[in-house]
Amino acid sequence: SVIKSSLIEPDGGVVVDLVVPESERELKTEEAESMPRVNLTNIDLEWVQVISEGWASPLKGFMRENEYLQSLHFNCLKTKDGSIVNMSLPIVLAIDDETKERIGSSTNVGLVGPGGDLIGILRSIEIYKHNKEERIARTWGTTAPGLPYVDEVITPAGNWLIGGDLEVLKPIKYNDGLDHYRLSPQQLRNEFDRRQADAVFAFQLRNPVHNGHALLMNDTRRRLLEMGFKNPILLLHPLGGFTKADDVPLDVRMEQHSKVLEDGVLDPKTTIVSIFPSPMHYAGPTEVQWHAKARVNAGANFYIVGRDPAGMGHPTEKRDLYDPDHGKKVLSMAPGLEKLNILPFRVAAYDTVEKKMAFFNPSRAKEFLFISGTKMRAYAKTGENPPDGFMCPGGWKVLVNYYKNLQSE
Ligand code: ADX
Repeated sequence: SVIKSSLIEPDGGVVVDLVVPESERELKTEEAESMPRVNLTNIDLEWVQVISEGWASPLKGFMRENEYLQSLHFNCLKTKDGSIVNMSLPIVLAIDDETKERIGSSTNVGLVGPGGDLIGILRSIEIYKHNKEERIARTWGTTAPGLPYVDEVITPAGNWLIGGDLEVLKPIKYNDGLDHYRLSPQQLRNEFDRRQADAVFAFQLRNPVHNGHALLMNDTRRRLLEMGFKNPILLLHPLGGFTKADDVPLDVRMEQHSKVLEDGVLDPKTTIVSIFPSPMHYAGPTEVQWHAKARVNAGANFYIVGRDPAGMGHPTEKRDLYDPDHGKKVLSMAPGLEKLNILPFRVAAYDTVEKKMAFFNPSRAKEFLFISGTKMRAYAKTGENPPDGFMCPGGWKVLVNYYKNLQSE
């Protein structure tokens, strides 16, 4: 029986699903074998998953030049019916001169994963110049050396971009013991419907959950109940793709998040923990739009945003790369995201008088302690505990073990 979902509509009206039905797999694999091949990096493969599962709906493949230009210059795409959807990051596939040569005048190419397996097909392709400097400057607002995604992904990539319609031969799996957390937007929607959620609020993160994060999530739940919602569900949605070297790896974060639920900091009955397969750009206010848009496609109609989302320290100067308040300001005004309710939050820090994480109060600034990732690492290294109430003990233990092992390596 078909139950009509009451969840927010995905961008473009339907969640894109580009995984070929099992009945066609063999035929399409044979077909792909006859095509010129394009080799994918691990990060290309993360984007294949993102596109094929519909996080970037209505985008149906790696961007062709017209989509790339819209994304780069307008942070948006125009859909067939003329409406605007947000699309703030270019999702592109780079190839080198040799691969371009090999493709010649073919219209379709086979995509080969890092392990050598055929992963999918890109159809009706278009090849255009990859002006890296322009892409970097427009996406990050700087070409300063030391941007992680630039150094590790864009700089080593080829000088051409190849766009086209994507087909994936089978669902992307990592076999790392975490695949059961990797729900597609449609699977999440089904789960929210099954639980009869009347509001879904998403929390994007790439760091361990401390009690400041929990404060944002629990405060949101309280506000939604006050607004009259009966069954708001939290989507705790850690990013699972590429992150920079000094971020905590996904497996450790997933273990830490489990402890946060076990220790009752978040309520397991009203929370779904899942992995968002996108790589991280660290492009601040530009990237946070992508983070929010993708969650609309997964059924979230409320989005929590706090201090400096998708931000990092400036790679060469002693300051934040972006104004820490710009992420939430930009998100509240972003074209194509009008239907999403943005819940902006002030910065949370450790209140040394109340001995808990609380919203920062500038009138007694001296009583607040900011505990950065660097500071957490320092605590863990020296075996010192962070102040009581910063993070649940179970969660902290996971981090101590991780940092200890790092040290001994
Ligand atoms: S992000 O790259 O995923 O944005 P992070 O995991 O640090 O990074 O943050 C997750 C979310 O929590 C973001 O919305 C961010 O703005 C918010 N946030 C992180 N730390 C704080 C804090 N101390 N106070 C308020 N909001 C915060």
